[in-house]
Amino acid sequence: MNYQNLLVSFEQGIALLTINREKALNALNAQTINELHQFFSQDAYNLEGLIGVIVTGAGEKAFVAGADITEFRGLSASAGKDLAQRGQDVFFLIERFPKPVVAAVNGFALGGGCELAMACHLRVAGEKAKFGQPEVNLGLIPGYGGTQRLVQYIGKTKAMELLMTADIIDANDAHHLGLVNYVVPSGAEIEKARALIEKIASKAPIAIQHVIASVNAYFAENVDGFVFEVDSFGACCSTDDFQEGATAFLEKRKAEFKGK
Ligand code: CAA
Repeated sequence: MNYQNLLVSFEQGIALLTINREKALNALNAQTINELHQFFSQDAYNLEGLIGVIVTGAGEKAFVAGADITEFRGLSASAGKDLAQRGQDVFFLIERFPKPVVAAVNGFALGGGCELAMACHLRVAGEKAKFGQPEVNLGLIPGYGGTQRLVQYIGKTKAMELLMTADIIDANDAHHLGLVNYVVPSGAEIEKARALIEKIASKAPIAIQHVIASVNAYFAENVDGFVFEVDSFGACCSTDDFQEGATAFLEKRKAEFKGK
């Protein structure tokens, strides 16, 4: 794993991925998007014993302050479409990653940064975190899935307002709106994200994969999520872990899952 803009550490089964462009408030330039692609399409799959990924930003000020605006000047319609498509493709890799991905939001999560946090399965915000989709200030709209996922998380009423006003909200408001799972004291985001991943790792890994895929199916085009759930339920029934889980319950002992 050789990156310019990502720092990756791997400890006790958890990959901590830090967007490392602190001077630009960790803005996502093309190189960083490529590196996220590399990590979530290949490198993460090669980490033996991986139980989950934490995504965070370097420094105390920003998670990610958006796509890198310095790369926007003179962007044509077709280059703009390509840029948005590339970002969306990478964020889908995150959303569909088969192990929990938790955003530890330590500061500004604006534009593409809010979109990155929303592509993760869970979000822990430090109390100084700020969220928003300020793209209309630039004559743009979100391009990395923000108009879709913000509606999914907080509903049309508030999403429409935030997207049109470019208002920036604090961590507590984001929590009340259902955009983040937890608000913790600043500096404790990674610890909380780690605790969530460890809790999930005590469950049956294949069942967790099916939860992720089935919840995503609710939002997928031309997919009946209920049918998808039936198939996933059936697939879980064919696992050793299901036999172990049900047997352990009946024997009144803790299940020992093997991910098989
Ligand atoms: N792209 C490139 N550089 C950025 C950046 C971004 N998104 N956000 C901040 N920076 C840079 C600034 O240009 C500045 O660089 P210099 O020191 O070289 O001047 C440095 O980071 C520090 O930023 P500020 O001086 O602006 O810090 P501040 O405390 O005054 O303000 C802020 C912080 C409110 C986050 C402000 O930086 C800001 O508004 N940033 C832009 C936020 C934004 O509009 N994001 C959306 C981008 S578009 C997008 O993401 C589209 C999409 O969906 C794909």
